[in-house]
Amino acid sequence: MAGRREILVVGNWKMNGLAATGKALAQDIRSHVEKKIAAKVVICPPSPLLNLIGPLLKGSAIGLGAQDCHMEQSGAFTGDVSAEILKDAGCGYVIVGHSERRLGHGESSYVVCQKAQAALAQGIIPILCVGETEKERESGKQKQAVASQLMASLPDDVSAKDFVLAYEPVWAIGTGKVATIEDIKIMHGYIKSLLADIRGWQPEQIRTIYGGSVKQEGARDILLCPAVDGVLVGGASLKAQEFCAIIDAAS
Ligand code: PGA
Repeated sequence: MAGRREILVVGNWKMNGLAATGKALAQDIRSHVEKKIAAKVVICPPSPLLNLIGPLLKGSAIGLGAQDCHMEQSGAFTGDVSAEILKDAGCGYVIVGHSERRLGHGESSYVVCQKAQAALAQGIIPILCVGETEKERESGKQKQAVASQLMASLPDDVSAKDFVLAYEPVWAIGTGKVATIEDIKIMHGYIKSLLADIRGWQPEQIRTIYGGSVKQEGARDILLCPAVDGVLVGGASLKAQEFCAIIDAAS
């Protein structure tokens, strides 16, 4: 994709992977990326695997990411992990506001914003997720839904280069239903122009990636959309061959 700026391919392993399978997957991705690096690749294993996978990626072009963080730096928050702990484990990225957290754990956009801020304070790039539900899309309210999440989740003082925005329609996550190229183009263009209007950034400074049932087939068409700067991949990031084919689709 000559002339385009760096494409980001993020693998969100979600609650999958044990020490042995996680290590093998990371090693396979590393050997593939060493052959040719057309995209910036980031993998987000479950938290207990971060300290195991991180060292395997040292010296490679692959970034380490986490799937969530707490808004506070430390304290009595049983079961949570702070951005400071993630930084210490070698993370350069963290997913915040994934719909599985917003809907499954009742996280409001206010909370997501605080989490993004906590990440930024540690020099970690938040991958901030927004996306409409099926009901919102069916009633034609997808832009409103995305805009209200975006405005309330994005910290005020962030600069365009310090975060990644992931557009993930909820109905496309883990369902096999990918948004159409037309819908992807429309929403990414909309998000960029909205952010350009309210933050005064140039659209090309803003990084927006698409997530929702991204597979090897179809990945290239998504990545060819001029407003799309990458993909956030769930299920297909668990198989080295499939994930590597998606990485190759970015070249
Ligand atoms: P999926 O997940 O690729 O399995 O749909 C994407 C995501 O939730 O980030």
